[in-house]
Amino acid sequence: MTHYLPGFGNHVSTEAIPGALPIGRNSPQRPAFGLYAEQLSGTAFTAPRHENRRSWLYRMRPTAEHPPFVRYTGAADFAPGTSDAPLAPNRLRWDPLPLPQAPVDLIDGMTTMMASRDPASLNGVALHVYAASRDMDARVFMNADGEMLFVPEHGRLALLTELGRIDVAPGQIALIPRGVRFRGLLPDGAARGYVCENHGSFFRLPDLGPIGANGLANPRDFETPVAWYEDRDEPFEVVQKFMGSLWTTTIDHSPLDVVAWHGNLGPWRYDLARFNAINTVSFDHPDPSIFTVLTSPSDVAGRANADFVIFPPRWMVAEDSFRPPWFHRNVMSEAMGLIQGAYDAKAEGFQPGGISLHNLMSGHGPDVATWKAASAAELKPHKIDGTMAFMLESCWPYRPTQTALDRAQLDYDAVWNDFPKAKLPQ
Ligand SMILES: [Fe+2]
Repeated sequence: MTHYLPGFGNHVSTEAIPGALPIGRNSPQRPAFGLYAEQLSGTAFTAPRHENRRSWLYRMRPTAEHPPFVRYTGAADFAPGTSDAPLAPNRLRWDPLPLPQAPVDLIDGMTTMMASRDPASLNGVALHVYAASRDMDARVFMNADGEMLFVPEHGRLALLTELGRIDVAPGQIALIPRGVRFRGLLPDGAARGYVCENHGSFFRLPDLGPIGANGLANPRDFETPVAWYEDRDEPFEVVQKFMGSLWTTTIDHSPLDVVAWHGNLGPWRYDLARFNAINTVSFDHPDPSIFTVLTSPSDVAGRANADFVIFPPRWMVAEDSFRPPWFHRNVMSEAMGLIQGAYDAKAEGFQPGGISLHNLMSGHGPDVATWKAASAAELKPHKIDGTMAFMLESCWPYRPTQTALDRAQLDYDAVWNDFPKAKLPQ
């Protein structure tokens, strides 16, 4: 039974053994039970208070105790680097990866599809897909390059982190902060999904403006796990992503040995079914930013380093309106995934587990079949149900990896062929 603490970005205090958490100070001369006090910073020490994220960990051994890292070669498609060739402006789409036949864990089963910006710039995002069939046992992963937002599409995940255990199923998301070590178990035996890796400022809830104090993703629905640890003295491999490359070392114990912690930097999970969707009750529909779950701001006001946006089940009631997403060209770059069902702008070809990419200024919108159907539809109230798509929208254009380019659908542009020409008055 896993317990969670509700709320987004709260200052929490949690201990797996009574008395492990110091009271009234962070770094006592002798912490209880011989534990080691360690600060994990998510923002600069001097970040403004409303931005400042850090937690204090009380662990059986300090993280500092480890041999040098050497290059890790076990995951050929994970973080291979993007191509240096000129980036083509083409729209791209991918079928889902097959579930693996051979045993492969969450790390070796990771395929990097695209990335924007070098992680050393502390900017940009990467989109990975995972397809895994084996638990991580005496092995953990940590990402120094950014926080990792897990978006399961097939099968549940149990993410055993330094700061507690998180269980997620398709339809839920989970965030592992930058630098937090974890291992992943697959309770259903096989798992597939997406990871949005955010190199920039941490994901937070968007401002709501005229919407008011409530709505979209509500803070109380985010859940942070209570302290949990494992006491295992045996060789543990630590695989780390650092500056776009993978590294490995081995220590003689599980680093998931944090007995107590407090602070406002921690992992969390969120059920997308709790998203309070807001949309038109008159005509047209608002920009898709109305569906923003999380945002990572850039240095330019209103221009996100990354927005995590969903297209959830919702009622469509707009009068005299073309109801699906309209045709558009966006100065932001759009990567999309599908968790369940069908997406309302594409009649076919975009499957759960698949991805599409529309970089900045690429013309896109509904395919011909969707446009025809929506233009002729009787506009009665209609519920879009059984679907969940997401968009990772970024101000930085995405560069696909070579693996992704080799796997792209060959005929994606054809979904926009054969639109009838408008008939002007003679
Ligand atoms: Fe779009």
